[in-house]
Amino acid sequence: MIKIGLLGLGTVGSGVYKIISENNIKIERKVGTEVKIEKILVNDKNKKRELNINKNLLTEHPADVVENPDINLVVELIGGENPAYKYVLTALKNKKSVVTANKLIIAKYGSEILKAAHQYNVQISFEGSVAGGIPIIRPLKESLVASEIENIYGILNGTTNYILTKMAEENREYADVLNEAQRLGYAERNPHSDISGLDAAYKIAILASIKFETLIDIISVYSEGIKNISLTDISLADELGYVVKLLAIAKKEEKGLDIRVHPAFISKSHPLALVNDVYNAVYLHGDIVGDIMSYGKGAGQMPTASAVVADIIQTAADINYNRSNIYSNESLQKQKIVDINEVNNLFYIRILVNDKPGVMAQVTKILGDNQVSLASVLQKNRLTPIVPLVLITHPVKEKHINKSIIELKNLDDVKSVESLVRVIDKF
Ligand SMILES: NC(=O)c1ccc[n+]([C@@H]2O[C@H](COP(=O)([O-])OP(=O)(O)OC[C@H]3O[C@@H](n4cnc5c(N)ncnc54)[C@H](OP(=O)(O)O)[C@@H]3O)[C@@H](O)[C@H]2O)c1
Repeated sequence: MIKIGLLGLGTVGSGVYKIISENNIKIERKVGTEVKIEKILVNDKNKKRELNINKNLLTEHPADVVENPDINLVVELIGGENPAYKYVLTALKNKKSVVTANKLIIAKYGSEILKAAHQYNVQISFEGSVAGGIPIIRPLKESLVASEIENIYGILNGTTNYILTKMAEENREYADVLNEAQRLGYAERNPHSDISGLDAAYKIAILASIKFETLIDIISVYSEGIKNISLTDISLADELGYVVKLLAIAKKEEKGLDIRVHPAFISKSHPLALVNDVYNAVYLHGDIVGDIMSYGKGAGQMPTASAVVADIIQTAADINYNRSNIYSNESLQKQKIVDINEVNNLFYIRILVNDKPGVMAQVTKILGDNQVSLASVLQKNRLTPIVPLVLITHPVKEKHINKSIIELKNLDDVKSVESLVRVIDKF
């Protein structure tokens, strides 16, 4: 029999408990022996819960799970940095395999966690930590090993994708949709991690570290959120044949790893442009396999619990059959992360200028002096003395575009630089 200790019985923990208790026979067939939940750590044993659960299973003492000699497999679903990280390490040191859905500890301490799992000859799995119900970590580690993956593009945050989708489809302002997302439970009361791109940065760091066999310092992953994306930009994107998405990108380049999260214009015809609402997707290109896209629910109780239970079944079967399936960090090397200033992108620039002769010449001179060449120019609403000028550049390094923007802001006839968004035209 495999005995499981759960750390946490919240949204995902309750989903995992339900799946395991309702599918016991099916799971036993897959694992080859009975799988039983032995103990569950919670914050408050007396909290009222929707689950009909035997109270004797609950404990407020972490040692009852992470140091319990009867338990072979610990499932961490507390979330956050600590005490979750501390409990995971203690469980591994006590020779228990661990399954977690915690992107923060995997992105931040993945190397230490893998090292401990290797040292104590146990397993660590974390499919639920990226893109909820979409199977992506195991496919990257196993199904796609024959192909050299050259780049990964992801829509990895459901909250921001929901906000951008609603802004575009219903012509509503950012703050209005964010309020609605919070009301519906799609966005947290403090949505900073989602909105700022940090949540997606954790997830792309995990995917990139697996596929590119690299240790990634999360602090060096550039992340820019969606709060500066306006309705005007979204409708101009539409007019120009694009949609706006918060993209997480990881690409192997000669100079190192190009890894970043930011809003981007992408062509309406690209498969990622069709990923709407709270859905997530991961789009990959491999030398042998070509293009692949995985699509599905990136969060939520049951999709995430489904990924966690899949890890539990696989790990429990490995324990039962004495299989060692250890993903070690031995092959992981620190790789240089390309400085965002050195990355080449196309840009969409929207500025407000005085509508008078010679202004366009001043603008193009500054751009030209900074090695920025233009692919297209759009001038709108010539009915007022101040008009918007919309420019799309050819590929140019970020440092050149940033210098141009500073100089444009100093021109008397440029009233404001309203927005600057990267355009991704090649995947
Ligand atoms: N929710 C999602 O859609 C989703 C999607 C993908 C990944 N994840 C990840 O899954 C993990 C769990 O998320 P969740 O949404 O299920 O969290 P949650 O609903 O907040 O549940 C957290 C659980 O942990 C317990 N807990 C919290 N602090 C504790 C402490 N110091 N000691 C002992 N127990 C403690 C809580 O106990 P009480 O019940 O007594 O309060 C609760 O049962 C996180 O890593 C999250 O990032 C979640």
